Amino acid sequence: MDFSPEDRAWLDNDPDIKFGSKELGSGGAGIVYELDNNPDLVIKVPKRFIPYTDTEKMQDIDARANLFRVLLLKEIETYNKLKKLKIIIPTRVVKLGVKTADGEDYLGLVRPKLKTSLSDLMKLSDEQLLEFRENLVELSEAGYEVAGWLQVGVDRLGKVQIYDIGDIKHCEDKKSAYTGNDSKWYTFLYCTEKVKYFFSDPSRIKTFFKLYKLY
Ligand SMILES: Nc1ncnc2c1ncn2[C@@H]1O[C@H](COP(=O)(O)OP(=O)(O)O)[C@@H](O)[C@H]1O
Ligand SMILES: [Mg+2]
Repeated sequence: MDFSPEDRAWLDNDPDIKFGSKELGSGGAGIVYELDNNPDLVIKVPKRFIPYTDTEKMQDIDARANLFRVLLLKEIETYNKLKKLKIIIPTRVVKLGVKTADGEDYLGLVRPKLKTSLSDLMKLSDEQLLEFRENLVELSEAGYEVAGWLQVGVDRLGKVQIYDIGDIKHCEDKKSAYTGNDSKWYTFLYCTEKVKYFFSDPSRIKTFFKLYKLY
């Protein structure tokens, strides 16, 4: 996916990227903050990276931050391979102005802010689910699989996007990409109570199978 014209215009203006006040979440590799100077965007930085600090302080404080820095480099590599797919969140790689002892830059990933709560995902309409499903099939067709669970959110236009690109893995063969993603898809429908919703009314069951139609 591409950034919206407004977000792209803002980013193309070479803005100062300020962050650190509002943390939105963290996982095994990164911490995600809202941008202090643009509430529509977020930044993912390596875990243990300290906002508004300098190179020397970062090296003193925590050598492990460098390991998380390398994990984000892998995420960037995967992003560059998949960025044309509709399910992939747009990403702008920015330098954080801090270097490792070896002179390598710490990098951050700037992205649109998504709605990621379970209640937001439970509100997806049949149409949104259908488009999401088609875009997930496109990922399988490209030979890539979501390793953990579907780490997705909804953007301003109502499109569902995968935000944790570090969780996407290349598969040996396309068939295992389909198998893996199909089971993550079923889990997603189950956890968002969509299975229950589609099966509670016989007239909806057809839509469920359309959604579940594999290829
Ligand atoms: N674009 C986004 N908009 C809003 N929240 C996000 C966004 N990306 C990530 N988050 C939040 O930050 C958390 C950590 O991000 P994630 O990319 O999963 O990091 P990790 O690779 O460490 O697992 C997510 O679980 C989610 O709650
Ligand atoms: Mg994650």
